[in-house]
Amino acid sequence: MIIAIDGPAGAGKSTIAKKLSTRFNFTYISSGKIYRCIALYFHNKNIYIQDQEKIKKELVNIKIDYKDEFYLNGLPVEKHINSDIISKNTSDISKYKFIRDFVQTIIEEISKNKNIIMDGRDIGTKVFPNADYKFYLTASVEERAKRRYKELKDSGMDVNYTEICESIKDRDQNDMNREIAPLKKADDAVVVDSSNKTIEEVVDEISSYINIDRRK
Ligand code: DC
Repeated sequence: MIIAIDGPAGAGKSTIAKKLSTRFNFTYISSGKIYRCIALYFHNKNIYIQDQEKIKKELVNIKIDYKDEFYLNGLPVEKHINSDIISKNTSDISKYKFIRDFVQTIIEEISKNKNIIMDGRDIGTKVFPNADYKFYLTASVEERAKRRYKELKDSGMDVNYTEICESIKDRDQNDMNREIAPLKKADDAVVVDSSNKTIEEVVDEISSYINIDRRK
């Protein structure tokens, strides 16, 4: 069974998806982390994100595995993929069709034979158009910026609310307006607005749509 959760940055997708995965005993996979691992690779190599030819050639050297967490060429990297610069580069790199095709193959590999909850931008529209359940989780920009601020601050980073708000707006702009697989609600997705709801309320709301007995 596949449950797809799409939505803009900071809507709470990963928090909600993790809780749902525990409730239903599914594997939770963040597709954004795959894009982030790729952006980290190029950042570490000092390769300019606009240099498409170079990026294309380098893809053969990138191996991404998932085993409870993501590994980039054998090394656990999750601690290094959440900074603002990586978020920005990730949004930029995810515009390229060859990157999206590359990520699709990685997703297919790591999702094989599993019940999956996956979050991202195009999971219900492109990656798993036949997903059993599709949700579009959203919230106001201010609310999303507040949450992102808290999350980064709690992880010990030195952050500024206004900058986060601006960077969320930029990312929305980028993710919703790119040519290939832009962020948008799938026609058959259920919209859930998390702005004035607690995590538990959102988890309960989404759970109420899911009939686990349909699991293949
Ligand atoms: O979910 P996230 O914030 O970790 O995603 C980081 C970036 O990756 C996001 O700005 C756009 C890109 N992304 C994408 O294009 N498609 C996805 N399915 C997931 C993420």
